[in-house]
Amino acid sequence: VATAATPPVTPLRLRAAELHPSLRDPQLDSMNFLNEVVGRYPRAISFAPGRPHLGLFEPERIGEYVERYATHLACDHGHTPEQVHTSLFQYGRTNGQIHDLVARTVGNDEGIHVPPEAVVVTVGAQEGMLLVVRALFGSPDDVLVVSDPCYVGIGGVARLLEVPMEPAREGPAGLDAAALRAAVARVRAAGRRPRAVYVVPDFANPSGVSLDVAARRELLAVADQEDLVVIEDNPYGFFARDGRPRPTLKSLDRSGRVVYLGSFAKTCFPGARVGYVLADQPVVGVDDAERLLADELSKIKSMTTVNTPSLSQAVIGGMLLAHDCRLRPAVAPAAAFYRANLEVLLAELDRHFPAGSPVRWNVPDGGFFLVVQVPFAADEDALRRSAEEFGVLWTPMRHFYLDAGGENHLRLSCSALPPDLIRDGVARLAAFVAAESHRSGTGVPTTGTPAGD
Ligand SMILES: Cc1ncc(COP(=O)(O)O)c(C=O)c1O
Repeated sequence: VATAATPPVTPLRLRAAELHPSLRDPQLDSMNFLNEVVGRYPRAISFAPGRPHLGLFEPERIGEYVERYATHLACDHGHTPEQVHTSLFQYGRTNGQIHDLVARTVGNDEGIHVPPEAVVVTVGAQEGMLLVVRALFGSPDDVLVVSDPCYVGIGGVARLLEVPMEPAREGPAGLDAAALRAAVARVRAAGRRPRAVYVVPDFANPSGVSLDVAARRELLAVADQEDLVVIEDNPYGFFARDGRPRPTLKSLDRSGRVVYLGSFAKTCFPGARVGYVLADQPVVGVDDAERLLADELSKIKSMTTVNTPSLSQAVIGGMLLAHDCRLRPAVAPAAAFYRANLEVLLAELDRHFPAGSPVRWNVPDGGFFLVVQVPFAADEDALRRSAEEFGVLWTPMRHFYLDAGGENHLRLSCSALPPDLIRDGVARLAAFVAAESHRSGTGVPTTGTPAGD
């Protein structure tokens, strides 16, 4: 039987020019480039990603944590076995099911007191950024002021959502009041409204810098005067070099301006993808009824991730319960590990680049990152040579700036490596810097010897 010939099918070819403009943004491209370089040189020593150290995780305890959480539901909340199963295996409450445990934990660890209903349990702090920026920015004239250099996650969210950003230049002591005021003035002069400021007060990514307590208070005072919402992002707060807690902006806030982004990525483990937003601001509706900002975020979350995976929440909830909702003491061994790593990194930099060398770096009060200044362009080509010829990876700082900046700076992250690899890595870095300086005619003397392959 003859069948009609199938007409030829033209496979769909999409045009980048027709996709969302953010996908053509060089910053989104640059992150792909970095991932690609890291993937291409798996044997290189990598100071590039700000990942927690793998050896600190306890995979054998995951089952115990889930069990602990299930017992808590049964014993403390009187749930039947069927209700426990529902909590673990079904779709769940949009704003999360461990919100009460998170509220207790931030109360114990940070002295932040919010009702559990003000907690939104998110898929990492990253989702928190998306929810908060989407909710707060109601007009195309609303501008997000960001500390510059800035964490790429917030820049990416702003670009995806087409929210304009204004950089406020960070100094050696973090984003100061004068820089914030200047940024706000520039926004207003352009006829726009500065709506919010994003800041990482402790051991920022990428710069490693921190705000002292006076600067925190000043920043909050500027926010009051200029009517800004403050988006505080605090994934590294437990990792101070001196081990002493610093007050969060949220705990110092007297006018309810701070929306707080928390993450369990560095304190528990990033694979769980659990973070949270503390959004206790009242929102007055058209009917004059008051709800919480958390309830508004819930509407957005219900259309993005529906709810944060219940099993992930159960593991993190179990971890919180196992530590009596006090993470600060629970992460003390991890904090000691990161502190020791930072000391090793600083000592090795001192050893390989003695005083007088044009290679300089900042000395952070804690966290995972520091920034090294070099006498040549720390760009993609240099990174490629560093990876290929010296087997060491780092992150060009250029990627973290909104406008110009960071051309001669590279970020080193010391969190993922064990101390002996940090030593080898800095030796390789020193050899690379010497070669690159020679190449660019800036000749850097170094005591370092090339190591390994
Ligand atoms: C400043 C900052 N905020 C947020 C995040 C992401 O947190 P999460 O893994 O919880 O999405 C990171 C991760 O590197 C970070 O450095």
